[in-house]
Amino acid sequence: MKYAFPENFWWGSASSAQQTEGESLKGGKSATTWDAWYASQPWRFHQQVGPQDTSTFYQHWREDIALLKELNHNSFRTSISWSRLIPDGTGEVNREAVAFYSNMLNELAEQGIEPFITLFHFDMPMVMQEKGGWENREVVEAFTRYAQICFDLFGHQVKHWFTFNEPIVPVEGGYLYDFHYPNVVDFRRAATVAYNTVLAHASAVRAFRAGHHPGEIGIVLNLTPSYPRSQHPADLKAAHHADLLFNRSFLDPVLLGEYPADLVALLKEYDQLPACHLGDKELIAAGKIDLLGINYYQPRRVKCRDSAVNPESPFMPEWLFDYYEMPGRKMNPWRGWEIYEPGIYDILVNLRDNYGNPRCFISENGMGVENEQRFIENGQINDQYRIAFITDHLKWLHKGISEGCNCLGYHMWTFIDNWSWCNAYKNRYGFVQLDLETQKRTVKKSGEWFAATAKNNGFDE
Ligand code: NOJ
Repeated sequence: MKYAFPENFWWGSASSAQQTEGESLKGGKSATTWDAWYASQPWRFHQQVGPQDTSTFYQHWREDIALLKELNHNSFRTSISWSRLIPDGTGEVNREAVAFYSNMLNELAEQGIEPFITLFHFDMPMVMQEKGGWENREVVEAFTRYAQICFDLFGHQVKHWFTFNEPIVPVEGGYLYDFHYPNVVDFRRAATVAYNTVLAHASAVRAFRAGHHPGEIGIVLNLTPSYPRSQHPADLKAAHHADLLFNRSFLDPVLLGEYPADLVALLKEYDQLPACHLGDKELIAAGKIDLLGINYYQPRRVKCRDSAVNPESPFMPEWLFDYYEMPGRKMNPWRGWEIYEPGIYDILVNLRDNYGNPRCFISENGMGVENEQRFIENGQINDQYRIAFITDHLKWLHKGISEGCNCLGYHMWTFIDNWSWCNAYKNRYGFVQLDLETQKRTVKKSGEWFAATAKNNGFDE
């Protein structure tokens, strides 16, 4: 069967500034929370490898863009680093950073590769975190100014902007489950951070529209379909709650311009509603997007709690639902994540049926593998498992598109193996293998497969 994709489908891959640029404290850049956290607690990071150890895109951008071209990418997502562009967060623009981003964007244009640019990919400048990060509304204003500066500086080069990448992750990691700085475990503070992130998003969108910048603006969300264990009302309710907290807390504001009434009612019921200011409602309504990026890795398997929560314990999502191990589910043996290809289709159908079928694309999908060198054959990683992973997801994506879903592209995470936060290089995701010592890049089998698929705008099977 032939799996042909629509004309002008975006084929590419995604990365981010902190994970690839390197030179984390050079070129005028100030520290992000990651740089600062690594400096004080390196043991938090796999094998104590920190954010300075990357593929140094800051130096290698020209050769990396040539490689993107070689792999037939027509599009590529990366991010701008706020702490590189405006080192003190609110003041002077760093001219060296402007030159770097502008040269890099020119080179992408030269090679016929569309840049997709994210403004915030987990990398809060430490100076802003010291002011309270997203808990402080002043940071929302500073972010809006940073976004405006990016639109003004690079608006003639970038046609697809994204305010945030996976904004729920810093909420979970930094304020609920201790895998991002500032390692707080407090639902109320998490809710404030999530709320202010929605405001920051909306405020940047409003600035984009007010400036009449060319192109379009969106956000990248990691959507995790929440499947109930059974049709029992208690399991259905649990899955609904997981969906409200982890998907719809961002999805509804950015697509519908408002919060789901059920989410507001739920937070009210448990007295966890963040403080709202006059004008917030209108601001959130102004944050509706043109294009949604969908990161899909795995679903959530949800059940109701088997026992009542201890009323003395502070409120956490665990009050509302629990996870369960679905028998027979397919797992990535190296990452412990479930592989469930129909999830990509379910996400698209949900968007089509419940959100007016917005313009969207798969902005990340991928497979992290440990000790990938053991698959080297004749000097090249023969990652058949990754090719199978992509093929299977593309088939479900194709089905969604053939049933009318408005999906315009597919980007893999990631291009060259990159530094992945606390996991550092534990799981590698790239189309291209990185030798950290020598900086040598070697295309994996999946990279060659993807190049052929992009060239043919699909595949036969
Ligand atoms: C999604 C995030 O956007 C990215 O930064 C991360 O490295 C990958 N997931 C893999 O965990």
